[in-house]
Amino acid sequence: MALDEIIEKAECSHELSKKEIVKLLESDECNEPLFSAADRVRKKYVGDEVHLRGLIEFSNLCVQNCLYCGLRRDNAGLDRYRLEPETIIDFAGKAARCGYKTVVLQSGEGDLYSCEEMLHVISSIKALDTAITLSMGEKPREEYRAYRDAGADRYLMRIETTDKKLYEKMSPCMSFENRLRCLRDLKELGYEVGTGCLVGLPGQTLESLADDILFFAEIGADMIGVGPFIPNPDTPLGKAPGGSFEMSLKVMAITRLILPDINIPATTAMEALNENGRMIGLQSGANVVMPNVTEGDYRRLYALYPGKICVNDTPAHCRSCITTKIMEIGRRVSQGHGYRGNLTR
Ligand code: 5AD
Ligand code: SF4
Ligand code: FES
Repeated sequence: MALDEIIEKAECSHELSKKEIVKLLESDECNEPLFSAADRVRKKYVGDEVHLRGLIEFSNLCVQNCLYCGLRRDNAGLDRYRLEPETIIDFAGKAARCGYKTVVLQSGEGDLYSCEEMLHVISSIKALDTAITLSMGEKPREEYRAYRDAGADRYLMRIETTDKKLYEKMSPCMSFENRLRCLRDLKELGYEVGTGCLVGLPGQTLESLADDILFFAEIGADMIGVGPFIPNPDTPLGKAPGGSFEMSLKVMAITRLILPDINIPATTAMEALNENGRMIGLQSGANVVMPNVTEGDYRRLYALYPGKICVNDTPAHCRSCITTKIMEIGRRVSQGHGYRGNLTR
């Protein structure tokens, strides 16, 4: 089948074989038609509204040692912080007053807070009438259950890559099986589950990216975040070639074709590689943006990769900046909580 026929098939049936996905990934001849098709599918299934999620980077401590990530435990050059529970609640309150209907609480992995502290944070934020997304790594099922019972709605945990060997090479001491266990537990506990992958990891193939996309469909993901791997000089992969903006956009667009009604963020890492990256993402299948609502120097210290955007900006500035950009491309900021399929709960 020719490339344009593959795109047409995906737009109508939302099904592609691995071979067809690889074909789309390996040629750049039909990129524009691919992005346009993803944009139409986005419009048809999730509409023109853009959901904003206010991101609070509440601690940059991490017990893991992923080779690509600046928060890895062996990166001794980074000043580490851990926000007090009351500070997290304060930042969330300000985000809610700025109009955010979801706050995302993200940190490195580890027992950085007791379960009681997290339950207090979650229930206090829930009282603000915002949805809560957690992104704090692998935990026992019972802890996920307790957070869910306290009011957490969604959980983000990228699989990063579905190539088990590559995954375990990139994240020494971590187990691919346990990551799958976490994703399954979260789904069973009724979270909206977000996952996703890095594009351009050393040793990653187009076949493996196609497997990632098929995996997103297989596990019934509600959200998918795709971003380029950006080499961080403070990590062992500092000199590796990074992922490209275009390839990340293609993986994202194909994901939209196959999972027409999910939430897909235009990721911050995309904008680190292209100054208009998030808006291009929103016009190629994405319907979510996650502006930073962390205050002060903590933004800079949450140093996953170099070139991070907005490190010197304030939450209020980012909020008005992103609203203007969204309106400029003819879209509007949603006033709802932005659950998948607009379900309210
Ligand atoms: N480049 C791009 N994304 C990165 N992440 C971590 N390190 C990097 C990097 N060097 C992403 C991972 C993780 C998310 C929080 O940040 O995909 O899931
Ligand atoms: Fe820790 Fe996540 Fe970075 Fe891995 S990717 S080192 S788990 S913060
Ligand atoms: Fe932060 Fe534009 S979103 S400055």
